[in-house]
Amino acid sequence: MPRYRYLPYQFNMEVTPAVQINHLVKEFPSPFRKSRVRAVDDVSLAIMPGEVYGLIGPNGSGKSTTMKALLGLLAPTRGSCHVFGKNSMKTDSRQEIGFLPENPYFYKHLSGEETLRFYAKLCGMRGKEVQNRVEEMLEMVSLQDARKRRIGGYSKGMLQRIGLAQALIHDPRLLILDEPTAGVDPIGSRQIRDLIVDLKARGVTVFLCSHLLEQVQEVCDHVGIIFNGKIVKEGRLEDLIAIEDQTEVVIRNASSRTLARIRAVIADAENAEFVRMGKPKTTLERLFLDEARKSDALANASDHAETAATAAKPGNTNEQGDPHA
Ligand SMILES: Nc1ncnc2c1ncn2[C@@H]1O[C@H](COP(=O)(O)OP(=O)(O)OP(=O)(O)O)[C@@H](O)[C@H]1O
Ligand SMILES: [Mg+2]
Repeated sequence: MPRYRYLPYQFNMEVTPAVQINHLVKEFPSPFRKSRVRAVDDVSLAIMPGEVYGLIGPNGSGKSTTMKALLGLLAPTRGSCHVFGKNSMKTDSRQEIGFLPENPYFYKHLSGEETLRFYAKLCGMRGKEVQNRVEEMLEMVSLQDARKRRIGGYSKGMLQRIGLAQALIHDPRLLILDEPTAGVDPIGSRQIRDLIVDLKARGVTVFLCSHLLEQVQEVCDHVGIIFNGKIVKEGRLEDLIAIEDQTEVVIRNASSRTLARIRAVIADAENAEFVRMGKPKTTLERLFLDEARKSDALANASDHAETAATAAKPGNTNEQGDPHA
């Protein structure tokens, strides 16, 4: 059920940030050196309720360490992290959080359904509530057919999806996803992105990190770029990727005469300079998904045709001559 459709800060009301990280520093001891490894170096950021925030950066730049500090799994060397105003080092801050780690680990002998039931009970649910929630989550991540299979036999994409279901089982207000689409095929990735968009519409705050920049661009409204533990750029995605001194115009069915006239207008305008004209491009990912959809539709159509042809064959009748018996 939607928690709230309109966010309080859209009406200029005071709201507590879902995530507030203040001057976070995290150092680890280095086994072979006297100096320590500084994984996170003075990171500050705030995420308002209902926002989807993407942290991007190269391997080893401090993304997972920042997330673990926010979850209270690592104690900050300096600085602080708060979740809905509660200090991350206090256990009650975690009640509001769902977490999908980088490499989720589950008990391999349990089935998907048993795993979710286990987490639901860990979160304090009992009786019918457990069953209802498990059903809802299995449907949400499309694992109903694999519910009885042991987790040990799940593929990478299935593990990622059961991990997501586990993270959402207690209906958290903040979802932290450490590379949610790692190892997932493009169709599975699309489902995960759709799910994030759906959660955002329901008012859930999402903090994620990913190496798949195109996906980050599709779902995130705020982005932070981290290098060597430092945030080097941060802000609204729209602002960060806009090329301030350029304007894009997309026209459908323009004749070559219209295009020539547009170019002439630009050539006449003071200061304006013609940069480029051409066809807008789709992404390779969209192309792949479209083709996958078409192949699915073709396969379904030929399945139907085959079933109909088999049923209609003269030999395919029972003793009474009824082809459908
Ligand atoms: N428990 C630890 N002990 C020692 N060093 C650590 C520990 N955890 C992380 N580090 C170091 O901190 C730095 C940041 O690691 P982190 O896992 O946060 O990077 P990341 O941005 O998540 O990278 P990736 O994209 O590969 O997941 C790395 O140099 C890493 O080796
Ligand atoms: Mg990481």
